[in-house]
Amino acid sequence: MYKISNLSKEYYIKKNRVVAFKDISFDIKKMEFFCIMGPSGCGKSSLLKTLFGIEKPTAGQIVFEGRKYDNGIPSSEFKNIGFVYQNENLLPWRSVEGNLKLPLEIFGYKGQKWLERIAEMLKLVGLYEYKNAIPRELSGGMKQRVGIARALVYDPDVILMDQPFSALDAITRNLLANEFLSIWKKTKKTFVMVTNDLHEAILCGQRVLFFSTDQDVKPEIIDIDIPSEERNQDIVFNKRYKELRSDLQQYV
Ligand SMILES: Nc1ncnc2c1ncn2[C@@H]1O[C@H](COP(=O)(O)OP(=O)(O)OP(=O)(O)O)[C@@H](O)[C@H]1O
Ligand SMILES: [Mg+2]
Repeated sequence: MYKISNLSKEYYIKKNRVVAFKDISFDIKKMEFFCIMGPSGCGKSSLLKTLFGIEKPTAGQIVFEGRKYDNGIPSSEFKNIGFVYQNENLLPWRSVEGNLKLPLEIFGYKGQKWLERIAEMLKLVGLYEYKNAIPRELSGGMKQRVGIARALVYDPDVILMDQPFSALDAITRNLLANEFLSIWKKTKKTFVMVTNDLHEAILCGQRVLFFSTDQDVKPEIIDIDIPSEERNQDIVFNKRYKELRSDLQQYV
């Protein structure tokens, strides 16, 4: 899906250089659930925005679905990439259905097929009965589910999520992580999720990229070798889960 080579991102604030991430190379496979972890300020959001195309890298190359970009992802790829925000970022005056229509309007996707797609996505996230509700009538977890339905509705190839559960309480976020996992299994799309929670990373991620606090130390990518069918609410009792949880504690 992605092949990232020697990617760097720097910002300039009043001529002061801030390095978000430096010279990183890795790939993300098709249909993979890929997680990104690391300390605050290490560049996770900057990396995700660069994978989306709303930030341009300072150096390096991104190959997206075989298309090579030396100056970041161009806007022509936006329709192929879905983004789920940390705070659901819905339009407050539009209904749930109206919020899902927004990307379709932007990309000029019209007709019965797309209206059916809206209904299908709302059913997938369990919110079809709420299609006429407005965001403030929904709970935090429901709004995040609208966020994922909106990212999926235009049928992109990859879904990028920046700490999608961080505004929620521990119980809701665990439930929602399990739901996102089952949505990933059903949709067979590529999911990339930034998280600050090791449990979520092991539950969802087939591979996890850990940023170091030291920008000169390359991120490490760890395989989470737990089969798909064992990834559910009971994963905490899984022997391999417990081993990984203690082994990976060193990174967080
Ligand atoms: N738009 C911006 N302009 C200038 N500097 C920025 C901008 N966005 C991020 N930075 C800087 O880049 C660095 C990485 O920020 P980033 O938001 O990517 O971190 P993060 O890993 O997502 O952190 P968190 O876990 O707190 O969300 C920080 O030093 C931050 O101050
Ligand atoms: Mg961030």
